[in-house]
Amino acid sequence: DLLKEIERLEQLFSTDTAKLKQITEHFVKELEKGLSVQGGSIPMNPTWVMSFPTGYETGTYLALDMGGTNLRVCQITLTEQKSEFDIIQSKYRLPEELKTGEADDLFEYIADCLMQFIETHHGDTGRLEKLPLGFTFSYPATQNYIDEGILQRWTKGFDIPGVEGHNVVPMFEAALARRGVPIKLTALINDTTGTLIASAYTDTKMKIGCIFGTGCNAAYMEDCGSIPKLAHLGLPPDTPMAINCEWGAFDNEHKVLPRTPYDIIIDKDSPRPGQQAFEKMIAGLYLGEIFRQIMVDLHDNHDVHIFEGQDISALRKAYSLDSSFLSAIEEDPFENLSETADLFQTKLGIHPNTHELELIRRTAELIGTRAARLSACGVAAISKKKGYTSCHVGADGSVFNKYPHFKARGAQALREILDWPEKTDPKEEDPIEILAAEDGSGVGAALIAALTLERVKKGN
Ligand code: BG6
Ligand code: GLC
Repeated sequence: DLLKEIERLEQLFSTDTAKLKQITEHFVKELEKGLSVQGGSIPMNPTWVMSFPTGYETGTYLALDMGGTNLRVCQITLTEQKSEFDIIQSKYRLPEELKTGEADDLFEYIADCLMQFIETHHGDTGRLEKLPLGFTFSYPATQNYIDEGILQRWTKGFDIPGVEGHNVVPMFEAALARRGVPIKLTALINDTTGTLIASAYTDTKMKIGCIFGTGCNAAYMEDCGSIPKLAHLGLPPDTPMAINCEWGAFDNEHKVLPRTPYDIIIDKDSPRPGQQAFEKMIAGLYLGEIFRQIMVDLHDNHDVHIFEGQDISALRKAYSLDSSFLSAIEEDPFENLSETADLFQTKLGIHPNTHELELIRRTAELIGTRAARLSACGVAAISKKKGYTSCHVGADGSVFNKYPHFKARGAQALREILDWPEKTDPKEEDPIEILAAEDGSGVGAALIAALTLERVKKGN
């Protein structure tokens, strides 16, 4: 019966303290492997962001943010006042078909958005001096310089041929040139690096930047002396270097993560099977899909046959449920789960019975809880590797900001992994706190552009 199924799912999705500790331990080793000459599956990409901001950076910069869901263009003015800035921004939809289309179409679309933004805010573009731009390109990229980005592989469901293995900057610049867009790309950055730098601009306790959104990843500041793969450059060992971990690729070898049959199907059917094992269990792109896989399986293959006799064709469509669908289920305030029932009816044409509604709610909780608890392993691993016992972590992304209980569940898991005693006062801060970053990528990109131009001026 249904209770038995719930118990089976609870087992499959369980992440007890011992498991989290084991995952964290392995994670620390994998972070180190990624920094080594031989490398590992976590890329640990050096970003050429080599200092934290002082708060006294100045100037006007453009920021282009190509994240998971939106395309955002911002103009940021860093003012003379410490850690203060003005921002104007426009959001553009990133059409779904561009994510799997042709590279030229993607870059031309981006160039058009930039042109539109500049025309709106600067009028006649003909007389403009080229504006410096920080391009937040949130995919794994090899950088030998800060204004280079050789795409290692597409993630988050993108699949555009002819880009992997190539530097995206000339493709982007060619599109700008064809349109006559008066922009000079100063820095290519990852959203996690942007989040780290923007967070540290206003809070010097910030040591790690995380994204829990369509994808899942983190960046932190390393010393060059701990990056054997950069040793050949002969940089002083205490030189700081922000590392974009690309931790979504953690455990691609499937050694420690408690993968379920549902995770295995999602991986197999994705554009890049075998990649992003950690991300596929945590990130917003996949949470609704894990849920959908479970529902279809319980309808087709188990004795319980949920939604018996109903047409479930809408439920059979891959990626038709996004993480906001799960959020809504977890947020349903009513004892009888009437909002969940309405949601199933309007979105899927399915009428769940009372027991099925309970199963639905519990399944959403299990998926959301596992995601938050696994995320905490990454944060704990970086903290352990760096020896941080007390710091702030800046986080951004739709899952962190909108998914119910994500923050509290993550904080609870960190407490278990790092053996903190229970709080005596609920208002007390945790030794390591994950806090919402204030507009990560926009300001981060502007600051990184400012830091880069300063470095160029000084000649290093
Ligand atoms: C935004 C940042 O707030 O969050 C982006 O500006 C980032 O840079 C994004 O990529 C991640 O969230 P999501 O949910 O859009 O993937
Ligand atoms: C994916 C990308 C990574 C990005 C993250 C969050 O993991 O590979 O670059 O930081 O999503 O957007």
